[in-house]
Order: sequence, then structure tokens, then C-alpha cells
Amino acid sequence: MDGQNRDNESSQGQFQLGAPVRLMTIGLDPKSANDLAEFAASTPLVRLQAGLIDYLSEDRDLPEQWTRNSQFDICVLDFDADRNRARITAEKIHADLPDIALFAVSKDSQPDLIIQAMRYGCSEYLLKPLSNDQLLQSIARVAARKRESQTIGRLIVLLGAKGGAGVTMIATHLGAIFAKRYKRRTLLIDMHPSMGDAELYLGLIKYQYSFRDLAENADRLDREFLQSFVLHHRSGLDLLPAPAFSQSVPRVSLENIGATLDFLRYCYEVLLVDCPPGMSEETQQAIRRADQVCLVAVPEVATLRNVARCLDHLVRINYPREKVGVVINRWTKRHSITDQQIEEAIRAPILWKLPNQYLEVIRIINDGDPSSNSGDSELSRSFDGLARCLASGPEAKKDAPKASRGLLGLFGADAAVSRRQ
Ligand SMILES: Nc1ncnc2c1ncn2[C@@H]1O[C@H](COP(=O)(O)OP(=O)(O)OP(=O)(O)O)[C@@H](O)[C@H]1O
Ligand SMILES: [Mg+2]
Repeated sequence: MDGQNRDNESSQGQFQLGAPVRLMTIGLDPKSANDLAEFAASTPLVRLQAGLIDYLSEDRDLPEQWTRNSQFDICVLDFDADRNRARITAEKIHADLPDIALFAVSKDSQPDLIIQAMRYGCSEYLLKPLSNDQLLQSIARVAARKRESQTIGRLIVLLGAKGGAGVTMIATHLGAIFAKRYKRRTLLIDMHPSMGDAELYLGLIKYQYSFRDLAENADRLDREFLQSFVLHHRSGLDLLPAPAFSQSVPRVSLENIGATLDFLRYCYEVLLVDCPPGMSEETQQAIRRADQVCLVAVPEVATLRNVARCLDHLVRINYPREKVGVVINRWTKRHSITDQQIEEAIRAPILWKLPNQYLEVIRIINDGDPSSNSGDSELSRSFDGLARCLASGPEAKKDAPKASRGLLGLFGADAAVSRRQ
């Protein structure tokens, strides 16, 4: 595998979608420990990961591997054996691992003790004996709060009106721009069932696992698991490639494809989906979730007819028209079809035009690094403009240059939309 083993990123306290909530316990009495273990065994949503019998003290820290490997979401802390040491433990965890939710456990329901525990950093107070209902409700409350505070990545689907229109070339360039220039955690997903090219265009040709392999394992998704599937490009862009040509194509249900995309949106700020041409059910799973659909075409009659068909289809599946942008790739001034004729044919405005620069495109593909583009060529300036435009949404085109919606706000002032068409 090439680049599919980068160190695990911190995921403590993330409550990843589709992944079990991970618990650790400290000082829990035997009966409560048993109740909790039975509860964890009764549901795949919860995983009891580790337990400390004794409290922490001023000079005793959490085991290093607990803190280093970021493996917990909730710490269940018994306050009954020694309230003062429980307080020290709570305060230490709250300070050192602020993303972990602390649950106090006690047989004592006095309001002032509950308030004290909250002051020490506990977000829930569970009364003994622990019941499954009580645990479920507390976990659900914390998980809901966490999810609300997590950002969901912007998902951009790139779809060719015809094979070879330039989807992969555009997706890899945009991915490199979002990752390198805008420092956004960016993932490119190659949804081709086989014979995708994204890994080739990024020079990441040695790999074992594809997006479909990940989706086949949708029930095991968590950030650590994801890391063994992702390829890392030098621009900072991550890639989930299509199955290698020699591999058998895993059969994956549409539910798994959808669940995997949902999960990935919690892991990245920008997700670009390189779809095969056509409106397969799998592509529609991505479109349903998309913040934007970018329809890629070249200025020739057959492709433009397909653009009109795709637009009609998107209307039929109730995808909002204002979120669709048509990109004309390989555009030249000398073309026999004018912009006006194109817009009449597709009954929609052109969002962006990328110039026809065959030699430069081939050079970039051979280098395997779209981020190495010098920045002063016509093609690279045009890509910059498209990236800004997609970051703010195609609907922002009419009110450029002051648009600041979507990702654009995150990109900072230098990302103000300025068109160079
Ligand atoms: N702007 C451009 N100028 C010149 N050549 C281009 C441009 N964009 C793409 N090409 C060429 O078009 C070819 C197809 O591009 P690409 O592989 O990105 O298409 P695609 O839509 O992903 O194809 P597929 O449907 O097979 O996935 C590439 O060989 C590339 O060199
Ligand atoms: Mg392609």
C-alpha cells in the first residue's frame, strides 16, 4: 500500500457517525461495573473499552496509551468510594482530555452533590443501580450535543455528461487546491466501480483498498479503520480510489454507500466525488447528499444534449436546480459553438469555462501532482476561479464578488470571488 498507513489522527470524543461510542470507567464498584458491562454487551452502539479500579491522584496521571491513542468518548466515574479523589480525577480528565464526556455515578441523589459533580466537569449524573434506559438516554444526549458541534463536510459531486469530459482532471485539481492552498481537510472519492483514474492522476498507483472496500465494511467504520483505506497525496489531499483493475469489484449495497458517505462527511471539510458518467443508483446516493453537483461537459453537440438530459433528470429526482453548475471543459475562443448556443442547448447558464490546454494537462497528469502547477498559467488561474466559485456555491455567481457563503467564509479574505472568464 502506498500511503494508506499514516498515523491515526486524533478522534477522541468525536462520536463518529456509525461507530460505537467508546467508554472507559474509573473507580466503578463491582455491581455497577457488571451492570455497565451487561449494557455494553446488549448494544453494538456502545463499546466498553477499558477500566481503572483506582482513582487518579495529584501525582498519578491517566495511562499514557489512553491519552496518546485517543480511544475514548465517555469516562464513567464512580463518586462513592472517595468523593475528594473522585473530584481530583474528574478535574484532571476535564483539563487533560476536554473532549471526553464525564459521567458521574453515585447512589446519592442530593442536589448539591449533583451540582458539585457538574462543577468538576461532569455532564451527566447517573444514579445507582445503573439502568439501561438511564445510560442510553445520557449517551444519546451527549452524542447529540457533540454532533451538533461537529461540522459536516461540503460534498461536491462531479459528473461527466459524457465519458472523457474531464471529470477526473477537474476533481484532482480542485482537491489539490482545497487541500494545499486553502488547507482544508479534503477527500477525493473515486466512485467508479472499476477503471477509475484518480489514483493515476495523483501518482498513487500502489494501493490495496478502494472506496468500495470501505463501503463493504460500513458496519465497522471509525476514523482509525478509515486510515488504512485512505491514500495520501503530497498536496495534503486524501483519496479513496476505485478498485484496481486486477481486483474483483466488491458488491456493495446502496445503503452501505450512503452510510459511508455520511460517515466521511464527519471526517473531512471538503469531499469531492468523481462519478462515472450516467445516473446510476450509486451516483444518485452521492447526489442526494451533495451540496453541489458539477456537471462537466465539452463543447460538442452530443455532450451538450446529455447535459440537458442530466439537468432534466436532476429535476425529476428533486435535486435543487440552484445547486447544479455546468462546467464547460476544453473551451476555446475559436470553437464553432458559441457560449450563447451552448446555454440555449442546455437551457441553463454556464457556471465556468476551463480552457483547452492539452499539453499542460498531460504534463500535470504525467507528474502526478496537480498542486505543482505554477499558478500563472491560464489553466491554473481558471482552476483557482472554479475552486472559489464551488466553495461558495454556484448560486453565488450572481452576487460575486461579495459572496461569503459556504466554505468561502472559511477560506479567508483572500478567497473573495473574482471571476476571470
Ligand atoms: N482542459 C483540458 N484541456 C486539454 N485536455 C484535457 C482537458 N481536460 C481533460 N483533458 C484530457 O481529456 C482526457 C480525459 O480527461 P479525464 O480523464 O479527466 O475525463 P473523465 O471525465 O474523468 O473520463 P472518464 O469518464 O473516463 O472517467 C484526459 O486525457 C485529459 O488529458
Ligand atoms: Mg475519470
